[in-house]
Amino acid sequence: MSFTAPDSDQLPRTLNDYYSRARAGMSPRNRAYFLAGAGDGQTASANETAFQQAEVTPRMLRDLRGGSTEVSLLGQKLVAPFLIAPFAYHRLLHDAGESATARAAEAQSIKMVLSAQSSEPLDRVRSSGPGSDWFQLHWLGSREATQALAQMALDAGFTRLILTIDAPVQGVRDREIEAQFQLPPDVSAVNLARFTPPAFTSREDAQSIIFDHIAETLPTWADIAWLIETLEAPLLLKGVLHPEDAAQAQRIGAAGVIVSNHGGRVLDRAPSTLSALPAIVAKVGPDYPVLMDGGIRRGVDILIALALGAKAVLIGRPIACGLAVAGDLGVSHVLRLLRDELEIAMLLSGCATVQDIERDMVHLKL
Ligand SMILES: Cc1cc2nc3c(=O)[nH]c(=O)nc-3n(C[C@H](O)[C@H](O)[C@H](O)COP(=O)(O)O)c2cc1C
Repeated sequence: MSFTAPDSDQLPRTLNDYYSRARAGMSPRNRAYFLAGAGDGQTASANETAFQQAEVTPRMLRDLRGGSTEVSLLGQKLVAPFLIAPFAYHRLLHDAGESATARAAEAQSIKMVLSAQSSEPLDRVRSSGPGSDWFQLHWLGSREATQALAQMALDAGFTRLILTIDAPVQGVRDREIEAQFQLPPDVSAVNLARFTPPAFTSREDAQSIIFDHIAETLPTWADIAWLIETLEAPLLLKGVLHPEDAAQAQRIGAAGVIVSNHGGRVLDRAPSTLSALPAIVAKVGPDYPVLMDGGIRRGVDILIALALGAKAVLIGRPIACGLAVAGDLGVSHVLRLLRDELEIAMLLSGCATVQDIERDMVHLKL
């Protein structure tokens, strides 16, 4: 299941080298699970294409003394405007799982968002990377169960919560179906074991195969407003693509939104996140925390997302690739490469700080 960690002189030297080594080394099942998108993969590839088609017009001869990539976000200082996106089952990629990723995050002073579907216990991950105090929740079928999961995270020392709202059901995952992906017996969502999944009752009057089974267990805005009111920690909503949904999140007191299409793993044909971002920022205003993820593969992509109004970004598959290739060393190296590339992009485009990254420097060719 895991790759042997190479010596550091055998590590890939570039981000693209990590992505190709990871793709080549993964089992077909892991490749289908971690790298593919839902359906035809159209949204997953649109996320990347949107960045590749963006143009950055650099500014010259500005004063770059005292520059840094630092940002403030929800009362925390981040050394760079990116976090590790929550993704499930790190132990599929490496035996040390989420603990390895958290160790690498700690080494690079970057924060990891831990997925509710972590394959390692919360406490072990927290102690491997105490600086990573962000946790991602799923709706667990009822207000009480979801609140209990949030409380479990807060009790373990997490201070920032993200509720993922874009996956009421799993997307149509053709690649996983074709590869017959299933979890091996020694990998599971260990932190969710004590929560019983919502009971589905079969109904005589069923009109629909899927709707009738799950609709009653799914949240609406009123449930999220209730959850936000009961929690003593900031909650962000992840998976927003429509400006009206962002405005609704702002109205009910969400601490921010994450413009995301789940890396193209849910609704194939959803827009790329980069194309959705500007209208959302315009709707909620420049001060509301809007984060984004999907398709970020290089440091310059972070600059592009910030120019379009994101306060920070989350990064998923590049981290999975680092973990697959070389465990914590690989994740640490990928984080470092991303940060170095961002700094270089800022210097080359005349931006000493993230505040200097201006909207009119980026042109989207969508
Ligand atoms: C294999 C995999 C598992 C994921 N699991 C979760 C999850 O448990 N919770 C969640 O909110 N998002 C999950 N995501 C979505 C990521 O948080 C993020 O939105 C996405 O990976 C960003 O796109 P990128 O991979 O292009 O960077 C997952 C993504 C991948 C690739």
